[in-house]
Amino acid sequence: TTARLTLDPSFRIGPVEPRLFGSFVEHMGRCVYTGIHEPGHPLADADGLRTDVLRLVRELGVTVVRYPGGNFVSNYRWEDGVGPVGDRPARLDLAWRSLEDNRFGLNEFMAWAAKAGVEPMMALNLGTRGVAEALDLVEYTNHPGGTRMSDLRRAHGVDKPHDVRLWCLGNELDGPWQMGHKTAAEYGRLAAETARALKRFDPNLSLVACGSSNSGMPTFAAWEAEVLEAAYDLVDYISLHAYYDPSDGDVDSFLASGADMDHMIRSIAATADHVGAKLRSGRRLKLSFDEWNVWYQSRFHGESSLEWSEHPRLIEDTYDVTDAVVVGSLLITLLRNADRVGVACLAQLANVIAPIRTEPGGPAWRQSIFHPFALTARHARGEVLRVEPDCATIPTAKYGEAPALWATATHDAATGEISLFVVNRDRHGPCALEIALPAGLRPVEHLELADDDLSAANTADAPDRVVPRAGTGLSQAERRVTLTLPPVSWSIVRFA
Ligand code: AHR
Repeated sequence: TTARLTLDPSFRIGPVEPRLFGSFVEHMGRCVYTGIHEPGHPLADADGLRTDVLRLVRELGVTVVRYPGGNFVSNYRWEDGVGPVGDRPARLDLAWRSLEDNRFGLNEFMAWAAKAGVEPMMALNLGTRGVAEALDLVEYTNHPGGTRMSDLRRAHGVDKPHDVRLWCLGNELDGPWQMGHKTAAEYGRLAAETARALKRFDPNLSLVACGSSNSGMPTFAAWEAEVLEAAYDLVDYISLHAYYDPSDGDVDSFLASGADMDHMIRSIAATADHVGAKLRSGRRLKLSFDEWNVWYQSRFHGESSLEWSEHPRLIEDTYDVTDAVVVGSLLITLLRNADRVGVACLAQLANVIAPIRTEPGGPAWRQSIFHPFALTARHARGEVLRVEPDCATIPTAKYGEAPALWATATHDAATGEISLFVVNRDRHGPCALEIALPAGLRPVEHLELADDDLSAANTADAPDRVVPRAGTGLSQAERRVTLTLPPVSWSIVRFA
């Protein structure tokens, strides 16, 4: 097929928010233990943190990391994870039917976050706990000293407060699988009262209320409306979560997953704006897409099937070329909605549906999905531009006619550089793309993620089987650039 698009710095959506390139570390499977933390590993530092993983996290360009869950947080006592490690209790984690010995906790995570150069985003347990425990945790974490909780932190060897700015008011409390699952009315009230108290502690904290666990929940959008009726003026973000896989082998719908993410963002923004209008509020809430990724749910047989054990191998999905193209297209979707989405977290960071895989005592490597994330985080700078490709459509069972190309671009006014990110969803052939450019720009880099074998993946033995390679077919005639996008591909073209 052929397609055209125009890059024009005057058509701006909004600034690229660095917090769009977040990720997520949950006490689940091997994300923490033998993922980011493995004392005794040949490459562990004095804190038991894997320096090979830290190096990859920095290369990935992650900016903010949500912790400690996830479903895990809804039955977690943060106090179990602080103080002398030998005194910490072992607990049953009911979310993942795992044994948690708590040798990694809040202060270890903050030390890791400082070394990784990321902002911490803390989740509170509003499942089995409430306002009092949330206040204790915030006092322990953020108050300088001279009070019971802040002095406890200092007694634990952390003199300066961690000053965490971003807090999640629980996790997926609309889901019946969640420990302490609630109705929208129950959660809305709890979220509002917790937020009121936290803002009394520090009015500048940014708070995220839980939205729906996914767009298929029976209460999708109704949950958000009811929660926000109670908490609108007290919170700063409402959360969204979404995981995609080619269910029943429907690859065309899978490749068009951005259509669902886009629909979710528009629906929840509209729901929030409706509540804001009813309440005569002058505030406009932002969205926190704080869990998103490809997740082969069909390979997971549910929490009840799990035996009690320490850091079992859970949902260690191996990602292929198609998965990387979908992840690239979801990043494009987030950028296209940069005026509403203020935070986004790829779930998760290590081993558990993750861009980084490790073996205990062994290597760490980049999965295929690592690459579109790292390149987008590195080169999406400045303002997001409105890009509307003129292209063919592809019929999909789930989303109707989906555009064959999915694209976004950013313009950095400081350098004049434009970065174009584009996916060709077509499985049946390449696309010849013609780009209209502002005067004076020329392509300086053209990389693509594509492969004759769409099921190719990176493994411990072949960690660089799937990597971005130089794109082909690029030529320029004055203000027109043409290039070829291979079938099922993700590409970046930088102009300077
Ligand atoms: O990321 C895995 C799980 O997915 C999280 O614990 C939960 O919040 C979501 O359902």
